[in-house]
Amino acid sequence: MKKEANEIPAIAGGTPVREKKIFYGHQYLDEADYRAVLDVLKSESLTCGPKIGELEEKLCRVTGAKYAVSVSNGTAALHVACLAAGIGPGDEVITSPITFAASANCVLYCQGRPVFADIDDRTYNIDPESVRSRITEKTKAVIGVDYTGQSVNLKELRKICEEHHLTLITDSAHSMGTIYDGKPTGSIADMTTFSFHPVKTVTCGEGGAVTTNDERLYQRLLLFSRHGITRDRSLMENEPDGPWYYEQLELGYNYRLTEIQAALLISQLDKLDRFAARRKEIVRRYNEAFSRIPQVRVQEEVEESDTVRHLYILRLVPKRLKIDRREFFAALEAENICCNVHYIPTYYFPYYRKLGYQKGLCPRAEKLYDEMLTLPLYYGMSDGDVEDVIRAVRRIAAYYGKD
Ligand SMILES: Cc1ncc(COP(=O)(O)O)c(C=O)c1O
Repeated sequence: MKKEANEIPAIAGGTPVREKKIFYGHQYLDEADYRAVLDVLKSESLTCGPKIGELEEKLCRVTGAKYAVSVSNGTAALHVACLAAGIGPGDEVITSPITFAASANCVLYCQGRPVFADIDDRTYNIDPESVRSRITEKTKAVIGVDYTGQSVNLKELRKICEEHHLTLITDSAHSMGTIYDGKPTGSIADMTTFSFHPVKTVTCGEGGAVTTNDERLYQRLLLFSRHGITRDRSLMENEPDGPWYYEQLELGYNYRLTEIQAALLISQLDKLDRFAARRKEIVRRYNEAFSRIPQVRVQEEVEESDTVRHLYILRLVPKRLKIDRREFFAALEAENICCNVHYIPTYYFPYYRKLGYQKGLCPRAEKLYDEMLTLPLYYGMSDGDVEDVIRAVRRIAAYYGKD
């Protein structure tokens, strides 16, 4: 391919595609969000007020779940989901290594043992066949991760969990707004957890939630996220000796969300359709452009999943490139396109190595890790921003490409 002067990547002496840096993710807040927060600041309650109930109702409407419990972050959501599932010492829980560490740490919090299953090489989500192969008599649950926002194979995972009497939890930190087989994420697994960290599709700074259709699990989620304390008389072991009376039934945690965060999240959820549509539009443009570049691969879309993508993963094709992932990453940075890598396989971390996990457990996940990077994707990106990213990838791939 002939290389025009303006096709020379910045790292090789060309002019960067843009002057201002663009980051891989960013929150979007508007006047309605500011007002919602200010109204709470001027109100009676900063915590334990009416906004929590309002938010939880809204989460039920958005996800189609019967019950929702708001918590302080996505990690807390995973922790209480494991507690509600009864995970305890020695129990095994199968999850993906291509995720944020919290998806496995939550099992360790309960003295259980995370077991890593490999991913599907096309979708990058946990491979149901690999899950099957990891089941032992100690397995109690599966935590499927809707990596990048694309739903896990819920049909297969449900089947496996039913066959083996396992609890199915989905870590849907990435997939707020995604629809699987006509139903929103949050209404299908036994429990679904969400995160509302600022790079996610909707945010309240720090925040999380668990949704479920099971009343017993709902009661347990409530207990574990509110100190193990209840004011519900029907759950108490003793007769109340006054209107102040409450009981602690479990060793729970203070994982409450504040009224300020709840109000912000309600306002953000009002914009979910808009956020989702723009993310889908950007992904469509990326997919269209990148599927024409032989040096890179795009994540395959799962037919059943109408995906609101939180992360956009570009996978390099090493045999068609003279540079590796680290150099490609540096070349994009030189163009002022700031990327990231999601994720380092969890069991690579020294903490996990000390627990006995070793490289080689999930070869497909490890290969993906070597070849991927995360490109900018967020609601506030302009069409020009999207074009800059595409141009940068194109010029780097062309310049460093080989046949
Ligand atoms: C897949 C996944 N699970 C869990 C979490 C934890 O969420 P939080 O940061 O809200 O604790 C994250 C957060 O980034 C995540 O990406």
